[in-house]
Amino acid sequence: MRKKVTKAIFPVAGMGTRFLPATKSVPKEIMTLVDRPLVQYAIDEAREAGIKEFIFITSRGKGALEDYFDNAPALEQELRKRGKDELLEILKSTNMESGEIAYMRQHKPLGLGHAVWCARRLIANEPFAVILPDDVIAAEKSCLAQMVEAFEETQGNIVAAMDVPDHMTSSYGILDVKEDMGSIVSTNGMVEKPGPGEAPSNLAVIGRYILTPTVLQKLNSKKTGTGGEIQLTDAIADAIADGEDVFGYRFKGQRFDCGSKSGFLQATVAFALARDDLRDDLWAYLNDTVHSHKAAQ
Ligand code: G1P
Repeated sequence: MRKKVTKAIFPVAGMGTRFLPATKSVPKEIMTLVDRPLVQYAIDEAREAGIKEFIFITSRGKGALEDYFDNAPALEQELRKRGKDELLEILKSTNMESGEIAYMRQHKPLGLGHAVWCARRLIANEPFAVILPDDVIAAEKSCLAQMVEAFEETQGNIVAAMDVPDHMTSSYGILDVKEDMGSIVSTNGMVEKPGPGEAPSNLAVIGRYILTPTVLQKLNSKKTGTGGEIQLTDAIADAIADGEDVFGYRFKGQRFDCGSKSGFLQATVAFALARDDLRDDLWAYLNDTVHSHKAAQ
């Protein structure tokens, strides 16, 4: 029987040190692109892909995330009193049905693989998605929705993939490509952050995965890998070695690395330019800035 993907894991336990001092008191995932926090983009993408259960892997200091998805009766009452219907409408996207969302704490920062493993009892024996909210993908059809469609065909594990230049392979999980069929590639393996000259290809894994329970079983071994952490990449590679199908999927869309300051700023500009209420002002400002920079050169 064909299995549907209805559960998604959102690993949000990281300390976000690259954004200190902001992340001293604000979880990185609550930082906003225009007026929506990173985590809202991730949730919207998951919903568009048909996800019904949202599992957050958190850590100490992430309380703001739980509050964000909670009802805010005092705020809503005040907005209602002032007749701010469109703001009440906007708030709706942050509300979760009871039981739709679960929070699990990762007690120690042991790596992405360990974070995913923390959700094993909630996932049980079903395929599941993993979304890393740092990777924001602007796309006509959401990246995860594209991958769910591909999964319905293949029923094998699928990871989002993107071609990167040689000097970038050491920042990503890299696919060992068996057959390149264009938007889909089959794989012989996967390596986490290979050094220069060691990468099996230039096809990098981006933070969207659809995985089968076999990967969770592989994580039971709690094997440490690159950086002394339990890597999701290694568990997927072990599943491939056991004969599981794992496909790379070249999604249609633009990915922003919001784990880096530059990527975050680029995403902010791109999302603002996509908004009718902000485009003209921002465009005029960017044009002026470019012209005055050029004139000063
Ligand atoms: C994680 C994964 C890596 C993947 C990347 C995508 O690395 O371990 O395999 O390519 O996300 O963004 P991180 O960026 O958390 O170091």
